[in-house]
Amino acid sequence: MAATARSGESLHDILKEFRGKKGVLLAVLHRVQEAYGYIPRETIAPIGQALNLPAPLVWGSLSFYSEFRTEPPPQTEVHLCLGPTCHLRGADHIKRILELRLGIDPKTGRSPDNEFGVRIMQCPGHCHVAPLMYVNEENVSGLPVSEAAALADRLKERGE
Ligand code: FES
Repeated sequence: MAATARSGESLHDILKEFRGKKGVLLAVLHRVQEAYGYIPRETIAPIGQALNLPAPLVWGSLSFYSEFRTEPPPQTEVHLCLGPTCHLRGADHIKRILELRLGIDPKTGRSPDNEFGVRIMQCPGHCHVAPLMYVNEENVSGLPVSEAAALADRLKERGE
């Protein structure tokens, strides 16, 4: 397999624990994503074999849930809520500013070199800090639209 697990837990270890069990596909997908940071396409067939499921069914589940990734995450990723309150507080404008300044393709949500990305979150109910936003694990919620360009510049400087 070309992808490398970053947690030290290999696909083999994960599948050994779940092999032949029923109703565990989502649990396996979560574990694989934790291990690799995403779900490499080459893991789909072995997951299907271990759980006695056809590969298209594994792929269908994987692509149905937006929390699963099939590509490695960008080095710097902004998670941004576009729910109603965040929208009113300018989240859409912040998203557009970040896309323009960081070279992020709005269709893919990432820059061509995978250095920067924007990922949209569903409203988790933290609307009092809108716009809800994280840069990797750092909480930067409440950022005014007027400071979005400066944030993008700081992220670019950090990446250099
Ligand atoms: S609308 Fe964004 S956190 Fe609720």
